[in-house]
Amino acid sequence: MLTRYYERCREIIDRHGGTTDKFIGDAVMGVWGAVAAHEDDAERATRAALELVDMVAGLGADLGIAELAARAGVLSGEASVGSGGNAQGLVVGDLVNTASRLQSIAEPGTVFVGEATKGLVGAAIEFKAVGEHHVKGKDLAVAVYQAMRVIAISTPRRGGELADGPFVGRDDELRMLKDQLHATGREGRARMVSIIGEGGIGKTRLSQELVRYIDGIKEDIYYHNGRSPSYGDGVTFWALGEMIRQRAGIVEGEDAAKSRIKLRTMVADFTPDDEDQKWIEPRLAAVIGLAPMPPGDRSELFGALRSFFQSVANRGTVLMVFEDLHWADEGLLDFIDELVERTTSHPILVVCLTRPELLERRPTWGASRKRTLTMHLSRLDEDSMRALVAGLAPGIPEDLVVRIADRTAGVPLHAVEFVRMLLNTAQLVPAGGGFEFIGSGDDLSIPDTVNAIIGARLDRLEPDELAIIQDAAVLGLTFTITDVAAMRGIPLADAESVLRELVRREILEVDED
Ligand SMILES: Nc1ncnc2c1ncn2[C@@H]1O[C@H](COP(=O)(O)OP(=O)(O)O)[C@@H](O)[C@H]1O
Ligand SMILES: [Mg+2]
Repeated sequence: MLTRYYERCREIIDRHGGTTDKFIGDAVMGVWGAVAAHEDDAERATRAALELVDMVAGLGADLGIAELAARAGVLSGEASVGSGGNAQGLVVGDLVNTASRLQSIAEPGTVFVGEATKGLVGAAIEFKAVGEHHVKGKDLAVAVYQAMRVIAISTPRRGGELADGPFVGRDDELRMLKDQLHATGREGRARMVSIIGEGGIGKTRLSQELVRYIDGIKEDIYYHNGRSPSYGDGVTFWALGEMIRQRAGIVEGEDAAKSRIKLRTMVADFTPDDEDQKWIEPRLAAVIGLAPMPPGDRSELFGALRSFFQSVANRGTVLMVFEDLHWADEGLLDFIDELVERTTSHPILVVCLTRPELLERRPTWGASRKRTLTMHLSRLDEDSMRALVAGLAPGIPEDLVVRIADRTAGVPLHAVEFVRMLLNTAQLVPAGGGFEFIGSGDDLSIPDTVNAIIGARLDRLEPDELAIIQDAAVLGLTFTITDVAAMRGIPLADAESVLRELVRREILEVDED
């Protein structure tokens, strides 16, 4: 029984991108982000914990042991990782001990997480507060939450108690998007816009502003939005599945029978021809996971999907926003390519939101065709950042606005997370429709969420790139190629080529001065 249990544990941890650190008796320790961080490690770990607990219940049922149950504890924070990383079981520290204690107070069949984990996971998982608990070896009580269930597939941690701030600093980009939308409608053929920029730079927000604009105009626009999740099996075409569900009005958790009816009604509505329906419907059903994929090669599937969206475009301009395309599988990228290339008599605007790393896989993405436009979103200027912070938390003191804008260096997400941290730590409290700052302002340490994002970016670098970044960080926020070369004792040309690569990846920026 233990062998089966170990095997499945390993499998579940692995599938969620973690590493099985060790088995101690019947206890399993899995670690995420100890070798290379992902920004959603906390979410991955919590999902894995929920599945582990569920798996053990299932194992009990299989073996006829109804009372078989596991419990889990998940904590996030800093630990010491020895050389050789997880493989040698060298992840140690207070965090590990506390996680083990947390696990020991969880009820059988449940998953307990700490405050930081809950904060990092955000809206993707539902939590229930279970109060403050004293754990062995800790002077202070720790706040504990029970992870209840997964609500959505990798919902980005956004929104929450903090309303969106004013839209700042991207008027030109928004105008270009609107122009593309109208040009698509006018010409009656497909266009593609790729919006490229690092995480948190404002890609999603820019596209949301376009959608907000559509709501106010009288032209018929059929809007779809689909995201590519950062991990997980069998989610090829996930983003297209989301779009099809939206068009059919199928909601999260709807049962299969109802979903089928909605799908059928929708297909019949857009494609009056019987033969077309018979070809398109089963393929759409397969993409949204209602049925197995009918036989036929990929071009058959692509053709059916394309016909469907084109039939929607018979009614008005179709807008398809693909989010997080850097996580898309090759199939989806190929589909988008073909859709844009082969749609020459229907108005479809495809908007692709992606981080620059997509260009590492597909260097020519968006560059090779007519009717395509690529926008690189750069950091917001100082004034826009101040306007954003002041608008997010009206009543926040001016000097704090300046400091937050300064520390977050033009990345709107980081500013939002700073303000959220001030709220979470009760330094900023709601007062009379706005906020009042009651903290000391001494400690503006970087929020966990920002740490996770930056850590994940740095862990993607090559060792020589990381070494240069480390040295450059000592030199300051701005530095010269000569200084870096001197500091590392390498030829100027070598330093320059690495730095150029880092600029291309949007880790560094060239300072015009
Ligand atoms: N131009 C902007 N003006 C105001 N807030 C912005 C702007 N761009 C982004 N934000 C805010 O910053 C956060 C991250 O932006 P988001 O669009 O989700 O980034 P991305 O999609 O590039 O990862 C969101 O809370 C968003 O509302
Ligand atoms: Mg986004």
